[in-house]
Amino acid sequence: KEITEAPIIIIGSGYGGAVSALRLCEAGKKVIMLEMGLNWEKSGIPYSNLLKPGKSAAWLRKKTIAPFMNLFSLTPFTGILDRLEFDHINIWVGRGVGGGSLVNGGMAVTPKESYFKEIFPNLDTEKFYNHYFPLVREELKVNIIDEQFLKDCPYYKFTRVGEEEAHKAGFKTMRVPNVYDFKYMEKEFRNEVPRSALNTEVIYGNNHGKNSLDKTYLKKAMETGNLEILDLHKVEHIKLNDDKSYTLNAQQIDTSGNIIADKVFHCKKLILAAGTMGTLQLLLQSNAVNDFPIHENIGKNWGNNGNFMTGRNWVKPLSGGTGTKQSTIPVGGIDNWEDTEHPFFTEIAPLPMGMDVATALYLLINRVDKKGEVTYDKANRILKLNWDESNTVKMRENAKYFVRKMNQANGGTRSHLLFNNGFGADICYHPLGGCVLGEATNEFGKLKDHDNLYVLDGSLIPGTIGVNPFVTITAIAEYCIENLIKQSEFA
Ligand code: FDA
Repeated sequence: KEITEAPIIIIGSGYGGAVSALRLCEAGKKVIMLEMGLNWEKSGIPYSNLLKPGKSAAWLRKKTIAPFMNLFSLTPFTGILDRLEFDHINIWVGRGVGGGSLVNGGMAVTPKESYFKEIFPNLDTEKFYNHYFPLVREELKVNIIDEQFLKDCPYYKFTRVGEEEAHKAGFKTMRVPNVYDFKYMEKEFRNEVPRSALNTEVIYGNNHGKNSLDKTYLKKAMETGNLEILDLHKVEHIKLNDDKSYTLNAQQIDTSGNIIADKVFHCKKLILAAGTMGTLQLLLQSNAVNDFPIHENIGKNWGNNGNFMTGRNWVKPLSGGTGTKQSTIPVGGIDNWEDTEHPFFTEIAPLPMGMDVATALYLLINRVDKKGEVTYDKANRILKLNWDESNTVKMRENAKYFVRKMNQANGGTRSHLLFNNGFGADICYHPLGGCVLGEATNEFGKLKDHDNLYVLDGSLIPGTIGVNPFVTITAIAEYCIENLIKQSEFA
């Protein structure tokens, strides 16, 4: 087989991969990035919206895989949203050049300083809040909705109702920044530009408005001329060579998922940025297949970032519910983190179903009291996740407390429309950990027991960060790659 040589290879094009690519390319390094998903921008294939999903909506499935309301039959295609199924939890991830940034809600939340300090006691908190967080907010083009627009726009009735109800129940709310360009959204509303957020586009991709990584970090990295991205290339496993370099086996697939070429890559330096589950899969599978050395902490300290969905039915039915028209971009949150008995943060989430279902949807983010572990089942060649209802006991308690308090103040019932008995404990958008900074790696993401292998993605965060995670993932990646370059790791 033909072997492609590269000094540096990055696997995955999400936040960690994009940051690493940009900083290495700026430092004059040539980088090859392997991404299993499609280069959407280059392909010109449009994304679909929530109400009329096409084949681009799901990764090689016959049916869409939104958390609820999946009715459509599709032609299998290397679509944008994937779901990884485990015994007690399902994990959603983005597929394509830009990773999770293509499918996520764009909520760009900086963690609470005290919690960041608690989770990362060895990091220089001051430097993160004065330098890395402001830097990534700028690079990611984070902005905030105009309050008057929010007040006037019918597409944000769900937020206004949600906040009003939260206040009535005695909760504190907060404005949530986003990478969606709110000036563009205002133009959408005035019908001056094609609609995206106001046309139910989000988890199957946004055709306009959203500053996903292909429009920020990756674009800048491409402009250096030093980055080559190979899409539809899935790395299967990695081998460590005697000279401490790495050999990668990858499959190039077509958009129907058929293998069109088995490829071999060889590199001196390897960065794993395949997302928490992708990186763990590569490490554990390579260990099983190739005796790839892995440190005992790999797979440990995994968490769902306290993700716990819930909903309420009949939110203000008499006043017209939460609105027929809803923007897909969340801008409101309820911050109950300081409550020592029930600490949680929740997004006031949209539910744009094209009709008023008089239902409010919330994605709670809790502490993770009991962490899980990711292992590999050699016989069946699959990842295993040691995680069940015992891991989410406190999250359920918080959700119950929240819904009860909201209903007492405002009326309504726990939503049985969306979830069995009103709770979505098994829905995870924020898998984190398993390759924790300082535990499975050194202080800058270099894997223990290896000389030329680095992990730069969500798996560095020990299972919880208290808010939506991509701002933190990006900041940690900036911190790590800056220091790795300074230490001449890529010289
Ligand atoms: P990420 O998952 O982004 O990227 C990994 C990439 O590697 C993917 O493109 C994948 O295809 C690729 N890959 C994996 N295995 C591979 C292999 N073997 N070979 C080649 N390529 C491989 N967060 C937030 O802060 N605010 C929000 O509003 C939301 N909302 C949200 C909604 C939904 C529906 C989801 C699914 C997720 C969110 N998130 C979010 C979470 C956020 O998107 C997530 O935490 C980050 O994308 C994780 O970034 P990483 O860099 O770790 O990997």
